[in-house]
Amino acid sequence: MSDEPRTMTLAIIKPDAFGSGKAGAVLSTLEDAGFRIRGSRVVHLSDAAAGAFYAVHHERPFFGSLVEFMTSGPCMPLALEHERAVPYLREVIGATDPAEAEPGTVRALYAESKERNAIHASDSDENARVELGFFFGNVDLIAGR
Ligand code: CMP
Repeated sequence: MSDEPRTMTLAIIKPDAFGSGKAGAVLSTLEDAGFRIRGSRVVHLSDAAAGAFYAVHHERPFFGSLVEFMTSGPCMPLALEHERAVPYLREVIGATDPAEAEPGTVRALYAESKERNAIHASDSDENARVELGFFFGNVDLIAGR
């Protein structure tokens, strides 16, 4: 077993993948890649919740459309554990635009477009802490046991 610390990151199976019945396939892909599922829930985000989660993108031209998409149906936030969980999950899900995602990545397999791209993943350990707190803040999550 590697000496790398086991850490946690946040993923969200987005409304496109969840609504088309791909949640199980996405979870299998993540488990096959070695992730342990430490938390999961199904939520239908309000405008306020989606806007708060993506606040960092508030000034971007796609912000309104992103909030509309993320509130269009239920989604599935996940707390995922692995060694170097944040960078490893980003490898496993592939590039934001599925046209640029490596074959076999979650987005190459299940995403439709740059916006309807099947899954979100935290982009740093600090953001993972914030984003895990956003969805699982009332639950103690323990990595590495
Ligand atoms: P995600 O990893 O959830 O982080 C921000 C999201 O914004 C991203 O995935 C995409 O769904 C969306 N996004 C990023 N860039 C664009 C873009 N150019 N056009 C539309 N949506 C985008």
